Amino acid sequence: MDGEQRWAAQRRELAEALQALRAQGRLRQRPLIDSRGGSSVIVCRDGARRRVINWASNDYLGLSRQLKVRNGAARALRRYGPGATAARLLAGSPRCHRRLEERLASWVGAEDALLVTTGYQANLAALVALVYGTHDAAVILDRLCHASLYDGARLAGAQLLRFAHNDLADLARRLAQCRGARRRIVVVESVYSMDGDEAPLVEIAALCRAEGALLVVDEAHAIGVFGPAGRGLCAAHGVKPDLLTFTCSKALASQGGVIAGDAELIALVVNAGRAFIYTTAPVPAASGAAVAALDCLRERPGLPAEALAAAAEVRAALVAQGWQVPAGRSPIIPLLVGDEASALRLAEELFAAGHWAPAIRPPTVPPGQCRLRLTVTAGHTPRDRRRLIAALAAARARFAPAAGTPSPC
Ligand SMILES: Cc1ncc(COP(=O)(O)O)c(C=O)c1O
Repeated sequence: MDGEQRWAAQRRELAEALQALRAQGRLRQRPLIDSRGGSSVIVCRDGARRRVINWASNDYLGLSRQLKVRNGAARALRRYGPGATAARLLAGSPRCHRRLEERLASWVGAEDALLVTTGYQANLAALVALVYGTHDAAVILDRLCHASLYDGARLAGAQLLRFAHNDLADLARRLAQCRGARRRIVVVESVYSMDGDEAPLVEIAALCRAEGALLVVDEAHAIGVFGPAGRGLCAAHGVKPDLLTFTCSKALASQGGVIAGDAELIALVVNAGRAFIYTTAPVPAASGAAVAALDCLRERPGLPAEALAAAAEVRAALVAQGWQVPAGRSPIIPLLVGDEASALRLAEELFAAGHWAPAIRPPTVPPGQCRLRLTVTAGHTPRDRRRLIAALAAARARFAPAAGTPSPC
């Protein structure tokens, strides 16, 4: 084969891989939306524009449309410019980033915090730092952990073990399996991103302590929503992980990942966390907005409870309609429908009825557990919720999985 033929063969193989995804109903696209924040978005599709209620955002407290948050971003933009211009270790940290770090550290009860560009990178940096200096580390993750946690463990070069979701006995077995490793790191989320259920944090922390394992908890979906004044579930349960990670991109209506913990470990992340070191700092407007979101939360301490009450109302209505909705209390409501085609069909039916709730398919969730992931936020109105409940009642008869079907996890 000459160079041209080899190149063509590789391109053919890539095209076939894409075609296989299409055939499985797993092809993803980038829907085009026009949004000014709030509970609705304009979806631009096939040359048409359609306003629909948005059930796909993680803006749990509805803060993204608050003037105060927008002004916080605008002030930081005016003062520090549109971009950070370089990595923080090279060009220094805009004061707004440091202010946010100090504020977040004291909010979650940690000695220090580090702001990185995204929550994804926070997890990469945290795990690479905890594995730093050894080739003999094992990272034990809950099976349903977010891709960024798995990618962090892989990037760190650690042995990777999974335990069955929220299963303490299986976690104990995995810890025993790698007892010989020099460093063992247990990784969980406090609220799982696709199921919305909570980890048994107190028991997991106790097991880690008994085993002498390090603990990382990702609170991406709990910060701002659960715990005293939205401080998360670790604060609620008095659990102190070695590193706590979360993102400003969900309840805090901004952008930027956060790693919080003892000052010594944060200093190690600063020095070893490649996903922090080798990238440009977050834009100043991100920390300006996040600080303003924290101010909003301080002024309206009832917001998290409002979000949870709205979610509880929708969850109860969908369960009563006979949908398969796993138990939970978070604003994330997974509506399990089974296969790819059914999930896509239900998403389309809802879209036709004026709702935006894209189908979640493998590899984001296990095969057979395709779903709509509905997030009910404090920004939705009672009318938004009534309309969603009515649209799902109308669709129910056409979607088979019975309530109570056991989850394969
Ligand atoms: C549990 C979890 N961790 C981390 C992230 C990544 O955060 P970000 O979107 O800020 O990169 C997400 C979601 O996107 C998530 O669900």
